Amino acid sequence: MTEPLIEVHDDATALATAVAGALVARLADAQERGEEPQVALTGGSIADQLHHQLTRLGNDHGTDWARVVFWWGDERFVARGSDERNAGAARAAFLDPVGADPGKVHEVPAADEVDDVAAAAAAYATTLREHGSGEFEVVLLGVGPDGHVASLFPGHPALDDEGIAVAVTDSPKPPPQRVSLTFNALNRARTVWFIVSGEAKAEAVAKALAEHPPADPHEVPAAGVTGSVETVWFLDRESASKL
Ligand code: 6PG
Repeated sequence: MTEPLIEVHDDATALATAVAGALVARLADAQERGEEPQVALTGGSIADQLHHQLTRLGNDHGTDWARVVFWWGDERFVARGSDERNAGAARAAFLDPVGADPGKVHEVPAADEVDDVAAAAAAYATTLREHGSGEFEVVLLGVGPDGHVASLFPGHPALDDEGIAVAVTDSPKPPPQRVSLTFNALNRARTVWFIVSGEAKAEAVAKALAEHPPADPHEVPAAGVTGSVETVWFLDRESASKL
């Protein structure tokens, strides 16, 4: 596993601005190579700021958003029109304004579209196998105060799931039902970017980056992103305060 890279920015706005700039540059490079890069977006509070910065950059920085394939690291199993869906927020604030190709935006099925959360996870896994290149160019992950990433929570059986997408029915973070990429899927990314803001995450960040001894991913899921994956921690001063 490569050593994690760490960037510390003044505040959440500077953090989101830095991630947006890095993302458009990386995707433009991939497109220069003739690739159609795959990105897994995140939910959570930092996502709103990131979407705003990405839309502000628009199409002026080389990335052709219509040639990017979008996924989500996790999604809440709620009705398609619910304010709680990560995809709905991303479409409104970012994907629609920048002109993403709807045929390349792959959402987790909503609660009013399939029978249950297990069916949603199975359908998402099938779509990933059929339309995913098998490797994300970038996976974006928020981190919870308990060190969770996507909807992979400490001590949860989903941490050991051997598939690529897993149903969670008892998320400690509401809403309770979710679909999440698994570590198998996350660890197939070329790079994983953790985007973490605020004092509440400082402990989780310090634990996830601890080396002696390293954190147990069952206790700090953010530490479960391993393998040959490049990892970058985009932090602000508060979330970096215990490093
Ligand atoms: C979700 C997110 C989740 C989030 C973290 C951090 O759907 O809730 O994907 O993994 O990224 O919980 O969220 P906050 O930044 O809002 O604490």
